[in-house]
Amino acid sequence: MVHGGEDESIARWSARRWQLENARSFEEWRRSEVSASLSNLRSLCRAVNDTVWQIGREPSATASQLRATREACNDLTFDSSAEVAAYTLQHLADRYGRVTQVLEALFAAGNLPIRQRGLTVLEVGAGPAPALYAIRDFYADLISWAAAATPDVRIAPVVVADALDRGKAWSHLLHNLSENILVRRGEKYSHSGSLPFAVRHLDLNGFSTIAEHVRELEQEVARIVDEYDRGDDYISESLAREQAQSDGVRQPSAYDLIVTCNFLTSRDSVEAFKVEISNLARSLTPGGLFVAIGSFEGNKYKYIWSELEKLLKRSSLVRLPLFGDPVRANGDVDWAHAIRAQQGEMLREFEAQGVLPICEPIYGSDEPFPEFKVLVWKNSNPPQKGRKRKI
Ligand SMILES: C[S@@+](CC[C@H](N)C(=O)[O-])C[C@H]1O[C@@H](n2cnc3c(N)ncnc32)[C@H](O)[C@@H]1O
Repeated sequence: MVHGGEDESIARWSARRWQLENARSFEEWRRSEVSASLSNLRSLCRAVNDTVWQIGREPSATASQLRATREACNDLTFDSSAEVAAYTLQHLADRYGRVTQVLEALFAAGNLPIRQRGLTVLEVGAGPAPALYAIRDFYADLISWAAAATPDVRIAPVVVADALDRGKAWSHLLHNLSENILVRRGEKYSHSGSLPFAVRHLDLNGFSTIAEHVRELEQEVARIVDEYDRGDDYISESLAREQAQSDGVRQPSAYDLIVTCNFLTSRDSVEAFKVEISNLARSLTPGGLFVAIGSFEGNKYKYIWSELEKLLKRSSLVRLPLFGDPVRANGDVDWAHAIRAQQGEMLREFEAQGVLPICEPIYGSDEPFPEFKVLVWKNSNPPQKGRKRKI
């Protein structure tokens, strides 16, 4: 991770120790004007409302979905622009804030994966992908801070930001939202890290990272064999596979961060996806994290969280002893105000147009956000260091 030099201390550099040693300095930076943390939240909020206007062309249709996308998400397919626009307007910035809090706490505890060759992230049940946007922005800010504070440490940005969601209207929303973020920030290209421009994987049912990786690899093998054949040449499948493996394919065989945010929301969800969740637990790079974020209140969630704990106890992941208590979402006053302002601005616009249902609340900027629950597991297995990975 540290570049240059052969000296002993550099050879034994530890990401964990580096984070612990620098936790306070980074926290101070995050609260200062130099950090892009608050300005990124504000530009994300503006981009959210731009996007809601653009894709929810019928404000009355979007407004009519506000209640369902707040209270009955499990009954929705997210196949319509109105549903995804209403959901995004109410939840994205809030969830982006929650994921950011989790990342800050993980850094302070020395547990964030720090990569030199690019960070790979998967959000499961992504919807408007709050985790992908939050992680991208957090690492970009971390890189800026590290460049000034610890210039011998090189940290890579997010290079793979994969969204997994079955809702057919999410890709269109993600494309618009990522473009609007770039416009609002005056970024020509996404040089601060990859943004999601579409859903990459459609259904968690039967999903396996390794199987997807192997499928892409085999496609590449077939392509190479075919290319040789068309040039009246020959390459064996095993040589073509070696070439494909060394060139790599787009789909990683494992991710550095896998996040589910408000995805496990029905009583049977852990049981229903137990095979897929167990596969995800085997799809982390060494030091990689599986982060589950969601509601805290009520017996249903108590049951869901304990089922998830039971399931992952059988995996090789280690549960991190963090976030014992529920966490207050967006406890920072400036963050809470920015998020409430984004939501209020849009709802008041609907009200002015006469399409806001009478029962819809418009919260003031001081209305607190609820508490939420976080569980984090880490792949503490050592890296394979030079040994070839079996696939
Ligand atoms: C409540 S939303 C959460 C969105 C976002 N992660 C957040 O925190 O706001 C749950 C999402 O899970 C998706 N979903 C539900 N079942 C799924 C499945 N079997 N495979 C993939 N996505 C699924 C839904 O389409 C929906 O977008």
